[in-house]
Amino acid sequence: MPARHSMNPLQFYRMLVILNGAIPGFMLAWDATQGRLGANSVNQALHVTGILSLVFLFFSLLMTPLRWATGWSGWIAFRRALGLYGFFYSLVHLAIYVGFDRALNLASTLHEIWTRTFLQVGTAALILMVPLAVTSTNSMIRRLGQKQWRLLHRAAYLVAALGVLHYFLLVKSDVRLPLAFAAVLIVLLGIRAAGRVLSTERFTK
Ligand code: HEM
Repeated sequence: MPARHSMNPLQFYRMLVILNGAIPGFMLAWDATQGRLGANSVNQALHVTGILSLVFLFFSLLMTPLRWATGWSGWIAFRRALGLYGFFYSLVHLAIYVGFDRALNLASTLHEIWTRTFLQVGTAALILMVPLAVTSTNSMIRRLGQKQWRLLHRAAYLVAALGVLHYFLLVKSDVRLPLAFAAVLIVLLGIRAAGRVLSTERFTK
């Protein structure tokens, strides 16, 4: 008997999210192999991966407000993949930093992190993402229980805030983009707070 395909629409949409999330990574890798990252290629790669990480983290934080706004709970099915892409791109970001910016010199990497505040903040964001990624599997969610899981995953807001602060601290003159990220984060937090205060039927989860 041929295998039955039983992918429901939600699983299909999630697959689209997973496939699409990988595309900017492939584009970056492709441009890198073609030598199309410009004169300062390492900085360009750090720029792209840093922004990608932030954008995916923000997307993952957007899913609950979207559920509240639309009443469709399907958004939540995309949240884990989006958050994990945020983590993935920041790991690539770190790998590019250690591998190319610091030429795999771990002592020099640690020295830089030790002496620069913006790197300490970025490192804190990355370290904080580890427990969130580790507890993102179905079995870990079950083991923790919904309540504990939710409490722990509130740290996602802190991760996003540290990511924005890292960005804000490193830009030299034009702070408009990090400030725009900060403004969006404040709106997301505001919606979350309003949801808790109102806690009507729609806003309880
Ligand atoms: C160990 C962790 C990290 C290290 C060592 C690191 C290092 C760096 C470095 C060296 C730059 C370029 C600085 C420059 O242009 O002078 C940078 C930029 C950036 N990083 Fe990180 N980072 C880390 C974690 C993160 C995380 C977790 C995020 C996001 C959540 C992030 C987002 C960004 C962004 C948005 C930029 C700015 C890109 C640009 O416009 O040039 N970084 N990071």
